[in-house]
Amino acid sequence: MIPDKVPQEDVYHAPQDLVKGAHVPNFEKYKELYLKSIQSPEEFWGDIAKDFFWKTKHTGKFLDYNFDVTKGNIYIQCMEGATTNICYNALDWNIHQRNLGDKVAFYWEGNEPGDELKVTYRELLHQVCKFANVLKSVGVRKGDRVSIYMPMVVELVVAMLACARIGAVHSIVFAGFSAESLFERIMDSQCSLLITADGFYRGDKLISLKLIADDALQRCRDKGVPVEKCIMLKHLSKEQPDSPAASPSPPAKRPCPDLQVPWNPEVDLCWHTLVDGASEECEPEWCASEDPLFILYTSGSTGKPKGVLHTVSGYMLYAATTFKLVFDYQPDDVYWCTADIGWITGHSYITYGPLTNGATSVLFEGLPTYPDMSRMWEIVDKYQVTKFYTAPTAIRLLMKYGSAPVQKFRRDSLKVLGTVGEPINPEAWQWYYSVVGEKKCPVVDTFWQTETGGHVLTPLPAATPMKPGSATFPFFGVVPAILNESGEELEGPSEGYLVFKQPWPGIMRTVYGNHQRFEATYFQKFPGYYVTGDGCRRDQDGYFWITGRIDDMLNVSGHLLSTAEVESALVEHPAVSEAAVVGRPHPVKGESLYCFVTLIDGVAYSTTLETELKQQVREKIGAIATPDYMQNAPGLPKTRSGKIMRRVLRKIARNERDLGDVSTLADSSVIDQLFNNRCPTAV
Ligand code: WT7
Repeated sequence: MIPDKVPQEDVYHAPQDLVKGAHVPNFEKYKELYLKSIQSPEEFWGDIAKDFFWKTKHTGKFLDYNFDVTKGNIYIQCMEGATTNICYNALDWNIHQRNLGDKVAFYWEGNEPGDELKVTYRELLHQVCKFANVLKSVGVRKGDRVSIYMPMVVELVVAMLACARIGAVHSIVFAGFSAESLFERIMDSQCSLLITADGFYRGDKLISLKLIADDALQRCRDKGVPVEKCIMLKHLSKEQPDSPAASPSPPAKRPCPDLQVPWNPEVDLCWHTLVDGASEECEPEWCASEDPLFILYTSGSTGKPKGVLHTVSGYMLYAATTFKLVFDYQPDDVYWCTADIGWITGHSYITYGPLTNGATSVLFEGLPTYPDMSRMWEIVDKYQVTKFYTAPTAIRLLMKYGSAPVQKFRRDSLKVLGTVGEPINPEAWQWYYSVVGEKKCPVVDTFWQTETGGHVLTPLPAATPMKPGSATFPFFGVVPAILNESGEELEGPSEGYLVFKQPWPGIMRTVYGNHQRFEATYFQKFPGYYVTGDGCRRDQDGYFWITGRIDDMLNVSGHLLSTAEVESALVEHPAVSEAAVVGRPHPVKGESLYCFVTLIDGVAYSTTLETELKQQVREKIGAIATPDYMQNAPGLPKTRSGKIMRRVLRKIARNERDLGDVSTLADSSVIDQLFNNRCPTAV
């Protein structure tokens, strides 16, 4: 499974000073631990569990499960009999056991430069306890679902941890989602409470969040399922007379005369007023291992969003361990993950992973491009960030503007760089590695999903020789396989469906309210396996390369091509910053390739360039992959988490105006532009 030897040439190694103190310092150690994690999970995870607080210890098997639909219901059960509380582990335990009360938990950096705040572990605990008491006072009990629709502020972390403390189940909805999306998620999870904020700025744009939340709440009422209460944080409107002076966030630096804050006295409650009188002490609710911790909706490529459910103990161990080992967390680190807490990346690697390790993190409200292209590096310099985690879409966006904005600031504090969300094309990897990390920082390309709870294929920074674009090898406890269409496991170099053969502690337990959908989506196609939905290639050295979602694969004259492969070949051209490829029906070949290319800032589109690009793909991949159509795409349709919506591009390639559900589209203005720029020969 894990190769005996990994290549030492044509790969990238971590610098010696990182290797020296690393938790997993070399590939031998990784292999040894990996074997132990598979052969004796009880012992492997048992050692890790010793660092956590358990009210009662587990009695049953460490992991009990059925992964085979033909043998009965799918279930995964971790640490039966144990009771704990993840909020207690993240805060109280660090304060009392590890003496971290005065350590900074978060440096909050607002949308406006200069808008900042720091919160220690002790301060965070007090805020969380107060808010947990508020939740109880408005009637929230263990097991109740609470929707959270908030910007990236410390109070979002406070709200989620307060839920976890009392055993309530949070369902965070990314604050960029529409009223309809919020409504749909509230209805599906049957929430009794919504927590939101008045509004926030995303760059220059004012978002009146309460207005959108009210719209969603009205839709619930219209359906006859009213949400009882709505707690609103004043984030922008602190100057209003009734706001208590001692509110946790500093006043926003920017005036917001257009902010609309409707108020319904029968439903709405003010965060600050409630918190003001609440006690700073709140005994945690001791939860069973398999009690639900949170629901997080993932849209997948089609259909209505699925409420991915994660439970307490397994998720806690997995988020904490992946954070510690994949970023090689050290006590003096300043860690920064640029994701939004509304995504799983933020749940696992802003809140739960870092806090259970007692880490100091940056929590950033703004955009990488505001007020200018240097913002990220300015923040890295300001807080002396050591471990940095972002997405390929952000890297490619910044690449478009060249290295000057990066080099305006010092980045010598950086030690490990991470990426997640999509396959990272080698070109972007190289830029990240050389320009951002100055060839001194390993790049951890972490493959995982909302469903997996934490990293499942990933390098460990000091142990794994890296290949640009490969997520390398499995994390501890994870057993991947590659299957062909008939469900046979492929050995050696091969390409097919990426599946997992057994659970790890952090895997999702069910789709909330619809276990049957859980089984049908992930376990039906290949009985005995968890099916990721991603394509994957294993090379001659045993490295795993994600080739993208199976639904996006192209079939040209009977040859399956991955979008990632063709896109990567296009992006290798110096004029191209981003590319997306889709199939267009072809009478002879079945499908032909239609490519959308975004150019580097300042480069003009031309037919000469088009010819060069077609030639380049032909050379890199082969004649079979020669694109038939190509168009200039100054902007691509992306979801709010930055994933390219190839489904929409397929319609544009076919000149079909009915785009279906585009509610998850981040910026709909790109659509007209794309239709106007269509390739003239694609009639
Ligand atoms: C899908 C999961 C997990 C947090 C962010 C996305 C793609 C994710 C990688 C990577 C290639 C990746 C896969 C996966 N993906 N990371 N390192 N290399 N592809 O969570 O929204 O649940 O999306 O993102 O296609 O299935 P998500």
